[in-house]
Amino acid sequence: MSTIVSFKNVQKTYDGETLVVKNLNLEIQEGEFLTMLGPSGSGKTTCLMMLAGFETATHGEILLQGKPINRIPPERRNIGMVFQSYALFPHKSVAENLAFPLKVRKVSKDEIARKVKRALNMVNMEKFANRMPAQLSGGQQQRIAVARALVFEPALVLMDEPLGALDKQLREQMQYEIKQIHEQSGLTVVYVTHDQGEAMTMSDRIAVFNNGIIQQLAPPPALYENPENAFVARFIGESNELLGTVASVDRERCTVKLESGQNIQAFAGPSVRGTGSASISLRPERVTVGDLAKSCDNVFQGGVKDLIYYGDHLRVVMQVCGRNDFIVKLPNNGVARQLRIGDSVHVGWMAECCRALQ
Ligand SMILES: Nc1ncnc2c1ncn2[C@@H]1O[C@H](COP(=O)(O)OP(=O)(O)OP(=O)(O)O)[C@@H](O)[C@H]1O
Ligand SMILES: [Mg+2]
Repeated sequence: MSTIVSFKNVQKTYDGETLVVKNLNLEIQEGEFLTMLGPSGSGKTTCLMMLAGFETATHGEILLQGKPINRIPPERRNIGMVFQSYALFPHKSVAENLAFPLKVRKVSKDEIARKVKRALNMVNMEKFANRMPAQLSGGQQQRIAVARALVFEPALVLMDEPLGALDKQLREQMQYEIKQIHEQSGLTVVYVTHDQGEAMTMSDRIAVFNNGIIQQLAPPPALYENPENAFVARFIGESNELLGTVASVDRERCTVKLESGQNIQAFAGPSVRGTGSASISLRPERVTVGDLAKSCDNVFQGGVKDLIYYGDHLRVVMQVCGRNDFIVKLPNNGVARQLRIGDSVHVGWMAECCRALQ
């Protein structure tokens, strides 16, 4: 695989004071689906804008296919873009909207007709060529916006929250369709979202942003299983966080003494040293309750404070290890069905299921 985009020590400030992107280093591989995920204001759109050429980096360099991007005029960058608001030309028909980027590139009439047809086909909108944008639903307009970004066969497509305006069901359907197009075409996609579910299901790799810094860059399962810091553990999925100090470390295992006094056996993340404060991150679905919990590396007595019924699973709010907002997710069978608010039960989890981070 070859690298299509490199950010090298890229910094960006708008006001000359605050860095909204801080020393960004990122290599995007040809054909990959890379997602920038992070809270509002973390610098995701700024990165896309610099790549597209609507903003310039304050420091550092961005390379596109090995060449510094500022030497390539925008129309020769061969980058397609889709934004959150569909931004179709309202007075042009669907077919004219799609023809536009081809006309700009001086493609011949016959070729335009062929390419427009193909792009409409890709998003299952062949029958809508002669409609005006106002005559389409939100989801249909967004499909046309995707088709317009693909019609000139760019090497790279940037999508900034393209599905933000759609309802849940349509969003999931479009996620699937965009993913299909990506797989069939071999396109490189750089996708921005703050919806972690969307990022998890669509991406080859996710760059988790916070405060203009990539906190971790990894495939979805690695982010969930091996978060490298407390921000990523909190941001990706749900996790119980327990605070304490490291008492001892033995290779990949460590003991952390909690503020509430208990000792926890945990997996020692790469940053863990022999001393100092640490946070432990534990996924709610990795906790066992009842007799089975007794054989775990970590076993405590917990009080059931609340039970929330979700049909397929129950969320149990417990008082454990000095916390009274400890969440356990149990499948709706066996033990879960017998729990009542006010019960005192064994709660346990294995050392490898909780990560100590420093
Ligand atoms: N044109 C601009 N001029 C000045 N400041 C800006 C400009 N664009 C963005 N910013 C600031 O830069 C920071 C990063 O903004 P950016 O739009 O990249 O965030 P984002 O991660 O895309 O957020 P969101 O999820 O809300 O879209 C924010 O603090 C924002 O206020
Ligand atoms: Mg944004």
